[in-house]
Amino acid sequence: MKNLSYTFIILILAFLYAACSSNNHQSVFHPKGLWLDNNGVHINAHGGGMLYNNGIYYWFGEHKIEGEAGNIAHVGVHCYSSENLQEWTDEGIALSVAPEGSGSDIEKGCILERPKVVYNAATKKYVMWFHLELKGEEYSAARSGVAISDKITGPYNFIRSLRPNGEMARDMTVFIDDDATAYHIFSSEDNKTTHIAELSDDYLSHTGKYVRVFPERYMEAPAVFKRNGNYYFIGSGCTGWAPNAARSAIAQSIWGPWTELGNPCRGENAELTFGAQSTYVQKVHGKEDLYIFMADEWRPENAIDGRYVWLPISFEEEKPVINWQTEWKMD
Ligand code: DGJ
Repeated sequence: MKNLSYTFIILILAFLYAACSSNNHQSVFHPKGLWLDNNGVHINAHGGGMLYNNGIYYWFGEHKIEGEAGNIAHVGVHCYSSENLQEWTDEGIALSVAPEGSGSDIEKGCILERPKVVYNAATKKYVMWFHLELKGEEYSAARSGVAISDKITGPYNFIRSLRPNGEMARDMTVFIDDDATAYHIFSSEDNKTTHIAELSDDYLSHTGKYVRVFPERYMEAPAVFKRNGNYYFIGSGCTGWAPNAARSAIAQSIWGPWTELGNPCRGENAELTFGAQSTYVQKVHGKEDLYIFMADEWRPENAIDGRYVWLPISFEEEKPVINWQTEWKMD
């Protein structure tokens, strides 16, 4: 009888331990750690963005290869899916680069960065925008590419590349407002000034309406989101792959005026954005006021090993604040 009770207690303890560890596994973020997908492979979605669709988060980012060669596009845009932002399933390559020698603007060897995917409810199409540099021309083309798909995970068909409204475009994001209007936000004028440009109703071209913001501020890595009716911008300075201090700004209209609020980062290495550079801000669905700052710790000498720095954003009055944490939980 005594032995039976011991066995029972041990079984209960084992059950509780297993429940707690699996819960830990699912709910703890480790910025800069190895983030393994369902196949046990470090997630390969750099400079990424997110699209929430029917209860699932889809993460799209640059697929990098090993070594310095990984800084140019050999494969394309990788997609992962997750119900909880913690456990990621590899959905494969959503947009593939075109074969070498094809002459396509997205030929293997081009530079294809910071893909962002949005859904157009009117056309029922998924639209991907990205920063594109033509093969062999380093960063001189300063173009944007657009691709389309009927299915969120792809395959996406490349439509064309262009200079939005005839202007240079490098680091970029896309923001969809509550009325479904889409805005393309990018570093323009040789990175000196940010442009916010309205997209057409089908999200595939530009309407010609745009504003120049943060003139001469050399902002990169734009991430735009909306909270309590305010528009927020988080970005970086312009120092190549090396980290610098993040920037933040607020506006009551997407068209501005935008007011800079300074570096939102706090804690160890805050003056270098914790060694990372912004790429996107994702609101967590089902949580009252939780926005996740997504950033990349680049490793240009072995691009595939780049790490992800995701941290919750808190707000002091209206100012966004991002505290460094080596690990954190969503609740
Ligand atoms: C900083 C940008 O934010 C990255 O996307 C990439 O273009 C690097 N510069 C290249 O140096």
